[in-house]
Amino acid sequence: MKKRILSGMRPTGPLHLGHLFGALDNWVKLQSDHDCFFMIADWHALMSEYEDPSKLSQYTIECAADWIAAGLDPEKSAIFVQSHVKEHLELYMVFSDFVPLGWLERCPTYKEQLRELSSRQLHTYGFLGYPVLQAADILLYKADAVPVGKDQLPHLELTNDIASKFNKLYGDVFLGIKPFLTKTSKLLGIDGKKMSKSYGNFIALGDSEEIIKKKCSQMFTDPERIRLNDKGHADKCNIYTYYNLLRKDRASEVYDYCTKARIGCTECKKNLAEVISDYLADIRKKREKLLRNKSDIRDILKDGAKKASKAASETMSEVKEAVGLL
Ligand code: TRP
Ligand code: SF4
Repeated sequence: MKKRILSGMRPTGPLHLGHLFGALDNWVKLQSDHDCFFMIADWHALMSEYEDPSKLSQYTIECAADWIAAGLDPEKSAIFVQSHVKEHLELYMVFSDFVPLGWLERCPTYKEQLRELSSRQLHTYGFLGYPVLQAADILLYKADAVPVGKDQLPHLELTNDIASKFNKLYGDVFLGIKPFLTKTSKLLGIDGKKMSKSYGNFIALGDSEEIIKKKCSQMFTDPERIRLNDKGHADKCNIYTYYNLLRKDRASEVYDYCTKARIGCTECKKNLAEVISDYLADIRKKREKLLRNKSDIRDILKDGAKKASKAASETMSEVKEAVGLL
């Protein structure tokens, strides 16, 4: 029996290189020998975007297109939208009844998000319950493992706590789950901070060549290299990290000309723009083609929801029986 995997992303903005190297590439590899469920977490997106959800459906469709363009295969994996499978909210409700407020108030990601998204009004009932819904997402599918980045670990711990508490109250329905930490190559944004939608420092999978050029020209480089004949410190330069990840075969050449001050940063960045653009060319083409036929994407999501619903409804029947609902 193949091990089952579930993971998800929130459709709150365009997918970028951080998603590609931090998650998607790994998901693509996992789908050949795992039973995979990949979910677009639109209910979770609404928790932080409820004041202006006008782009939610666009981002949901684009997210699916990006995933497929990056190599997720709807034949192998269930690719679906969270709100299309009604059991997520049902299990969330069952959990909500017994999860102590303290678990949620103490959750480090909760405090962090309130701080980071301080322009939004997130002192809401729904946002506090974010990890409860995530636990429902995971436990509904009885996933063996959840591939996520380190930032999600507190949510997985809570998921296990919720599973144990459920079992204690109503009998053994859920097993513990394991995180499947993605060994991420840290790719920083154009300003040298973590690449993130909220910082606006990302290179999106759908960015045009022009935009990539512009963004690369704005990238932070070795601050100690001011003049052309100052020797650079490639190891400390974000541009060099990109080369190592995208064109390993050219990294030593870059290291060489940088540390010997043979070419300037402006030219180095111009070359990088081409490297990124070439790297994304196939994904961009596939994504554009998919987005020209949105009804095909909708069909894929419908099919994914069907597969997901099958697994989810089985678990939910067990849950209802264990809890004592008619
Ligand atoms: N919280 C996750 C994130 O922000 C998204 C998510 C929602 C998720 N439900 C999930 C991830 C279930 C893994 C499993 O990235
Ligand atoms: Fe960075 Fe390239 Fe400039 Fe070296 S030459 S500091 S690698 S941008």
